[in-house]
Amino acid sequence: MIDLCRFDDIPEGEARGFEVGEQAVLIIRRQGQLYAYHNHCPHRGIRLEWQPDQFLDYEKQYIQCATHGALFTIEQGECIAGPCPGEQLDPVRVCTEGDRILISL
Ligand code: FES
Repeated sequence: MIDLCRFDDIPEGEARGFEVGEQAVLIIRRQGQLYAYHNHCPHRGIRLEWQPDQFLDYEKQYIQCATHGALFTIEQGECIAGPCPGEQLDPVRVCTEGDRILISL
């Protein structure tokens, strides 16, 4: 497991991006749960965000790809709108240990 950050480094309802070696991941904290995905859109295989840490739509209900606007559910990473419906973000295993967030790639 890779020690990524403190739990409180991700505010409730927000997302944060991380670089882990060559890989980019995003973590979302929602209602106390953590959801983690590789940072690449299944539509074109590019990063989801244009601005640092801007992974969510305006209402913070979905993960949104900045390039063509695909929307993905936070819990499952499933595309429900945009150019790649039914495709999935690639999940990353995430857990907590004390006040730390750990992932495994
Ligand atoms: S690259 Fe993400 S929707 Fe097209």
